[in-house]
Amino acid sequence: MKIYYYDSLPGDQREPHESPDPLPDTLLSDLSIIAGHYPDVASVDEIAKARSYKNRDVITVSPDAMGDIYESKVKMFFDEHLHEDEEIRYILDGSGFFDVRSGAPGGEDERWVRVAMEAGDLIILPAGIYHRFTTDEKNYIKAMRLFKDEPKWTALNRSPEVDANPYRQEYITSVLKA
Ligand code: LAC
Ligand code: NI
Repeated sequence: MKIYYYDSLPGDQREPHESPDPLPDTLLSDLSIIAGHYPDVASVDEIAKARSYKNRDVITVSPDAMGDIYESKVKMFFDEHLHEDEEIRYILDGSGFFDVRSGAPGGEDERWVRVAMEAGDLIILPAGIYHRFTTDEKNYIKAMRLFKDEPKWTALNRSPEVDANPYRQEYITSVLKA
């Protein structure tokens, strides 16, 4: 796992886009994100149990697995959005990028932080954080998606209305303290 500021320069979303700007050490905890390397599924099982996650599935995002809809799916995952529940992803194979927002919402210091994930990496994004996902230039990732009960994949794309969503407001108040 590698974490850096996204450079926001033109170019395909799947390129690394690594900015040289130094990242604060406490960045992930400041955003209430948990991320780390969990070499086996047994350690993921423990996290799932501790957080009362009962269900999971496995998704493969690649042209082979998805066919013609691959390009449009990858563009859709890259729309900035939030969820009203945690998003937990455990990478089983391949690699990809989770981009998360840092800084004051709507402010000049609001930036994208890119988390480069590969096999064995796990990330937990809290409800209400704006984020997006893309495959990288290898165009292949296989990930486990964990959920508490029924899957709640609804992606709420960024808009003034979603900015006012109670889960977003809760995240801003309790985590960003803005
Ligand atoms: C999701 C990723 C794309 O919502 O953020 O599944
Ligand atoms: Ni998401």
